[in-house]
Amino acid sequence: MENAGRRRFLTLCLGGVAAAGAAAGAWPVFRYLAPRAAGDSGAKVKIPEKDVPEGGAKFFEFAGASAVLIRKRGGELAALSAVCTHLGCIVQWQREKQEFLCPCHAGRFTAEGAVISGPPPKALEKLPFTVADGTVTIG
Ligand code: FES
Repeated sequence: MENAGRRRFLTLCLGGVAAAGAAAGAWPVFRYLAPRAAGDSGAKVKIPEKDVPEGGAKFFEFAGASAVLIRKRGGELAALSAVCTHLGCIVQWQREKQEFLCPCHAGRFTAEGAVISGPPPKALEKLPFTVADGTVTIG
């Protein structure tokens, strides 16, 4: 009789430990997949203009997603979402070609975000920005 009680107690303890372990393992996955809190979406991002050389790009996080600020040859700036409109991979800036390449399925976009080729159904989202006193403010 006493053994049955111990066995039940031990089973309960092991079940609790297993449940806690499963919860601890699932939490990071849940946080990764869960949408960002609404409070993240209104934040502005400030980037010093000098951080983006002519022809170059600076990636940053905006409203919980990857974004990119580029300075085209000639000096014009553009701020875009870096999330591919096909399946959500992060695009890469091809400095030599002055275009974006999505590494997942070879989608290509112009420096303005328009689709050149590949499966992306639409352009990269343009982000609003202002420039003042050597600082680019996105959002
Ligand atoms: S996710 Fe970018 S081309 Fe498929």
